[in-house]
Amino acid sequence: PTANIGVVGLAVMGSNLARNLASREGNTVAVYNRSRSKTDELLAEHPEAEFVPGFSYEEFAANLQKPRTAIIMVKAGRPTDAVIESLMEVFEPGDIIIDGGNSLFTDTIRREKAVREAGFNFVGMGVSGGEEGALNGPSLMPGGPDEAWVTLGPILKSIAAVAEGEPCVTHIGHDGAGHFVKMVHNGIEYADMQLIAEAYDLIRRGTGKSPAEIADIFAEWNRGELESYLIEITAEVLRQTDAATGKPLVDVILDQAGAKGTGAWTVQTALDLGVPVSGIAEATFARSLSSHPEQRAVSGGLPGPTEDAFTVEDADAFVEQVRLALYASKIVAYSQGFDEIRAGAAQYGWTIDLGAVSKIWRGGCIIRAQFLNRIADAYDADATLPVLLTAPYFVEALGRAQDAWRHIVQVSAGAGIPAPAFSSSLAYYDGLRAERLPAALIQGQRDFFGAHTYKRIDKPGTFHTLWSGDRTEIEAEDTH
Ligand code: 6PG
Repeated sequence: PTANIGVVGLAVMGSNLARNLASREGNTVAVYNRSRSKTDELLAEHPEAEFVPGFSYEEFAANLQKPRTAIIMVKAGRPTDAVIESLMEVFEPGDIIIDGGNSLFTDTIRREKAVREAGFNFVGMGVSGGEEGALNGPSLMPGGPDEAWVTLGPILKSIAAVAEGEPCVTHIGHDGAGHFVKMVHNGIEYADMQLIAEAYDLIRRGTGKSPAEIADIFAEWNRGELESYLIEITAEVLRQTDAATGKPLVDVILDQAGAKGTGAWTVQTALDLGVPVSGIAEATFARSLSSHPEQRAVSGGLPGPTEDAFTVEDADAFVEQVRLALYASKIVAYSQGFDEIRAGAAQYGWTIDLGAVSKIWRGGCIIRAQFLNRIADAYDADATLPVLLTAPYFVEALGRAQDAWRHIVQVSAGAGIPAPAFSSSLAYYDGLRAERLPAALIQGQRDFFGAHTYKRIDKPGTFHTLWSGDRTEIEAEDTH
């Protein structure tokens, strides 16, 4: 056996990861794909890389040094289960099976248990950065047992992106922790993308600027506190002209956003955990709304604002207000995402270092941004910070942005332009700030119709008002 690491599944992500591994000093990479042609293609197209091909699972296993370490890069779901089963037939106790797909963390928890009970190590690993990241340096979020990390850590560090001298990989936590964190990464990605889309829409409809002009604005923003991969590629997309029509490409792309499900998982999981990730939820729902042409087709006649068309007096000032609204809403989205990780860790018994998570997202992944340094600073200062956006840096930024943010939400509502992520982020912010919330009234309503009881601000205990009797208050059993 000559290889220290193997890759199963040689579609784009798998072959790029294999090439990345092979390009690093000290790695020899065993490769296997179900259909032989993909393996042959990889070998033919990349003679520079020293791959050790296997054409059966037996051969693949025989090519690997012990403990055998194999990264699975196939579709999440059934195909992943099938490969795991095949590897367990040819591997030996102590060997390490890594799932690098976008698997649902609860599947990872289930698989880790089954694989561990059979004597192997199982690592569910989030991989971010798309095809380009897989090839040149992804952000890696491995979960699984400590024992596997000993072997795997150095290999993963050799291929991960590097941000400020540090590899973008850390052992996130046990069993499903890595895939959980990757899931939330994608949820934040959805929110980030939606916020950028709302900013673009408002600028375009408010100022009449062309996509190319707005591209320049995003390029400019990318030199400041919003600097990030998503802002950078937004400029590229907006600047692109369609060869067939000569129009801006963005104007000929069908306005129905796809989704492969990780955003929805983030929201579903947050609902279960009781964590208000409203920005991520709005972003996910905005994609859903866009993808119902039959509903949109019958809704164009719904009345809009009676006021005159949307006019912006000072375009530069408006653009700056949109930038601030975007920044403030982005802070909310990340704060909510980290809240979900905190809650998930508590629920599933993981020890997750939130500061370390923010650091491995500084490079390689889709949400990589300057801003993540500020999140790392916040957790460095206080690792148990209950709400990220209450860290001093963010309080200052929100204070600086809030007038513009409120103005932009008002303007968009007044003009009838949907800005669900901007406005829900602001509502979340104001909800957190509120000294009293109307939740008290909801408790009263619940007690009225269902005797669900309430607590009082002035004394301990649980109470119920005899609403259908004489409306006196009695002490009650706590029913929540
Ligand atoms: C990444 C991306 C990657 C993928 C998304 C796309 O981190 O590299 O998040 O995982 O591009 O899953 O998701 P949607 O198809 O749902 O937009």
